[in-house]
Amino acid sequence: MEPRTYAIRTFGCQMNEHDSLRIAGLLEADGLTEAASPDEADVVVLNTCCIRENADNKLYGTLGHLKAEKQRRPSLEIVVAGCLAQKDRDVVRERAPHVDVVLGTHNVHRAAELLHDARTHGPITEILEAAAADDHDRFPSALAARHDHGYAAWVTIQIGCDNSCAFCIVPAVRGPEMSKPFDALVDEVRALADQGVTEVTLLGQNVNSYGRDVALAARKRGEAVRVRPRFADLLRAVGAVDGIERVRFTSPHPKDLGTDVVEAMGATAAVCEHLHLPLQSGSDRVLKAMHRGYTADRYLERLAVARAGVADLAVTTDIIVGFPGETDDDFERTLEVVAEAGYDSAYTFIYSPRPGTEAAEMVGAFVPPEVVAERFARLTDVVERSARMRHEARVGLLEEVVVEGRSRRDPADLTGRTRQNKLVHFAAAPMRPGTYATVQVTGAGPHHLRGELVEQVAAARHRTRIAVTAAG
Ligand code: 5AD
Ligand code: SF4
Repeated sequence: MEPRTYAIRTFGCQMNEHDSLRIAGLLEADGLTEAASPDEADVVVLNTCCIRENADNKLYGTLGHLKAEKQRRPSLEIVVAGCLAQKDRDVVRERAPHVDVVLGTHNVHRAAELLHDARTHGPITEILEAAAADDHDRFPSALAARHDHGYAAWVTIQIGCDNSCAFCIVPAVRGPEMSKPFDALVDEVRALADQGVTEVTLLGQNVNSYGRDVALAARKRGEAVRVRPRFADLLRAVGAVDGIERVRFTSPHPKDLGTDVVEAMGATAAVCEHLHLPLQSGSDRVLKAMHRGYTADRYLERLAVARAGVADLAVTTDIIVGFPGETDDDFERTLEVVAEAGYDSAYTFIYSPRPGTEAAEMVGAFVPPEVVAERFARLTDVVERSARMRHEARVGLLEEVVVEGRSRRDPADLTGRTRQNKLVHFAAAPMRPGTYATVQVTGAGPHHLRGELVEQVAAARHRTRIAVTAAG
């Protein structure tokens, strides 16, 4: 019998992509193979996100299409996972009774089992409010994850978030912060390096507070708190793993970015010269209403410390336009901070209310859409100007580039990424993704660099596919 096939559609953020990779790993461990085309898959997984706008419309649109497909092919199985499932479990069931499995963010590791159960018992919804504190199965393990680029891997160091930013749904759907044990993480990175992975990205909602929950839990149990594992130590330990050339992380919270982290970045050769430091707003009034825990000056001070401690640092950020109550004056402050911070790029978001969050209740203070649109366009201009300046300053420099593949714009070009996480397009004969090369920067745009190949430094060493193991 042909093995059953699966296809996964991810609607969300990086954390979600990581969960998708993990689900793929679990399904492969269960004997399924990836479908050549999503239209032919026996199992379709929709991994949802409630951070992105219109996530629910996209989900229900896709589910409508799949309903017709299921009438044609009754053996088709549909799984809805992720934040939106966690938040709107009943709505999903009600609007799409043809879904076989609805699972949340706390039980991704049960995807394959739940599919088995649904086959015998019919449709299942399993949403956990939070997993048991010692359930480390909850962490997506990089080893159980299939990664399209075998040279780079994401490693989740922490899940959940203990903050309460007024706009953000994450604490409600991902639960409180929980750190993966230090030694397990270092072992995981070692195992990845053994498979030829040279680049890891450490993932968490608030990586600087890594380990804080461990100390809090110990204190609650009445134990003397031994040395708490710290993010700075983790950076050093991961950076010291043989074979790991690049360590990235996302995201630190500006209020918790300590000098120890900056020192570890500066002192650890493998840690890339890139800091993603979400600003959200440059107005102290708005930052306060958002409960961000810092002022614009404090943010800029932290940034100055980071720039002083890490030579040639690229800085990127997230900014929300049109938070309820944002005035013209508040927005001007944001533009000022953006100009002063000197960002290499910024993800800009239009505020959109997430039901269940504090800001979603501030209906009377919502900013009219035409005002938001105008501010958004101005912000985009300022960000692009800043990015272009930062990129132009690199013309002439030699950059270490990891090849990602052929350029999508011009098949004669290869595309790679610098240590600062910038895309570079350069003309060259094909090289395997994961190859290290030296490229001289010859041109710059707001979102990429152009370069010329100087030399290939090291061939990619990874096996084409990371071996898939069952989670545990
Ligand atoms: N509206 C707009 N942007 C949001 N973000 C999070 N929640 C919202 C929201 N309700 C943005 C923040 C965060 C990024 C991942 O998404 O800028 O840093
Ligand atoms: Fe959301 Fe704020 Fe936590 Fe980030 S720090 S995940 S924005 S609540």
